[in-house]
Amino acid sequence: MTDRITVLDFGSQYSHLICRRIRDLSVYAELVPYDITAEELARHDPKGIILSGGPASVSDGDAPIPEDAVFESGLPILGICYGHQLIVHRYGGRVKRANREYGSSTLTVDGGGAGLLGGIGGSVRAWMSHGDEAEQVPRNFEVIGHTENSRAAAIASRDGPPVYGIQFHPEVAHTEQGSRILENFVLNVCKASRDWTMSRFVEEAVGKISGIEGNVLCGVSGGVDSTVAAVLIHRAIGERLKCVFVDNGLLREGESREITGIFRDNFGMNFEAVDAAQKFLGKLRGVADPEAKRKIVGEEFVRVFSDFAESRGPFRWLAQGTLYPDVIESGVSKGPASVIKSHHNVGGLPEWLDLEVLEPLRDLYKDEVREVARILGVPRSIYMRHPFPGPGLAVRIMGEVTPEKLKIARVAGKIVEDELGQAGLYSEVWQAYAAVGDDRAVGVVGDGRVYGNIVMIRVVSSTDAMTADWTRLPHDLLEKMSNRITNEIDNVTWVSYAVSSKPPATIEPQ
Ligand code: XMP
Repeated sequence: MTDRITVLDFGSQYSHLICRRIRDLSVYAELVPYDITAEELARHDPKGIILSGGPASVSDGDAPIPEDAVFESGLPILGICYGHQLIVHRYGGRVKRANREYGSSTLTVDGGGAGLLGGIGGSVRAWMSHGDEAEQVPRNFEVIGHTENSRAAAIASRDGPPVYGIQFHPEVAHTEQGSRILENFVLNVCKASRDWTMSRFVEEAVGKISGIEGNVLCGVSGGVDSTVAAVLIHRAIGERLKCVFVDNGLLREGESREITGIFRDNFGMNFEAVDAAQKFLGKLRGVADPEAKRKIVGEEFVRVFSDFAESRGPFRWLAQGTLYPDVIESGVSKGPASVIKSHHNVGGLPEWLDLEVLEPLRDLYKDEVREVARILGVPRSIYMRHPFPGPGLAVRIMGEVTPEKLKIARVAGKIVEDELGQAGLYSEVWQAYAAVGDDRAVGVVGDGRVYGNIVMIRVVSSTDAMTADWTRLPHDLLEKMSNRITNEIDNVTWVSYAVSSKPPATIEPQ
């Protein structure tokens, strides 16, 4: 089994980042709820444990406290921020409420850093975000680093299994030598092997999937996740995989042709494209409400998919490109997020289809999937493709989906993507598109007055789509996009640029 580091999640927004940084070292890291049971933890058999940060205070009556077995496991432990305070509390020290400290502090290493802070230099910039601090260090611990405001910003056990606590966040990019600190813990203290590589993942996944019986159905969208899932499964079971691509009439300019071409030319797998555009567009006629549009697309998708499964079956498995963050979202110690939009993917298939779910990418982060894509020879145009929502242009068209607005969103969207590509910025941003609604504005074309549509360009930067910032594109690039949109599309008179971040906005307008 691959060596692993288990991160107990106390709800920090950086918990995933800890795992990702460790995986960058080619060591498998996983996120589990903080209240994981002793038996479950033993089943995971980690080489070391990390206690993440979190919003709570150890002195709160309802503070999240892990089972004692975690501390009694004899495994190396590293506590970060809230995890640091937990260690102080658990081993008999004292935590007090302090002035909130956010942002950069200078960490000075004391006494060589006891293995954890070795090799990072005498002092580094460390990123803090906390309201409590260690007032009294537990008896058999020593201070290995301090900041101006925090006398015990890093501590280490003097004897017994190695236990470390650090008040700052080594996983964020603002902490200098943060990766080195995690590397010291994972490789030197835990002695984890660097055996988490994507080529090994491919080999093992293919081995595992080869053992399944029956046929597999996979819906592919042309996005990196479903494509990689399909190529991986195809490698393992060949003809027993059938892929279906549904053209719902809400795709980007040329997308249906392009995806069909790529699958036909490159992968040599059972692939069928279903043209269901008229069905979807017919159902959407006259519907303006965003949630109603999402529901209609979702339901129609299930219908088309079920028909396909029934006529081409029997299938035993349904393959999905689910990724790691989606898998643990439900299991982790966070409150239920309110539903902002009902995101639809292939879900809610009727029970009579009786399909088991196959999710070969469920342990991977997005950048790991891209690496797998490279290994499997998936074309770059697929693995660097921007994410595209299931309901497609229906959520980029405000109000009713009409043929005119579809055309505008398609052509303008292509102009935005092309110009971004020309400027070498396509892969630098998370998503880029053009949206259109029913608002109009007066323009003058030639010598005539035109009361035309307004197109909104949206380009955002993000790492996980949970939050996003509008991208500060160069003005001359925006000008070029705007000129092309008004020149090349009839009846578009104005172009606007969306300068709202998420939150309070979302990435898609509907
Ligand atoms: P929002 O608009 O909620 O979008 O900020 C966050 C990310 O999710 C994508 N998105 C979807 N993806 N099905 C999907 O698979 C959907 O229904 C859906 N709606 C939004 C969106 O493009 C962005 O990357």
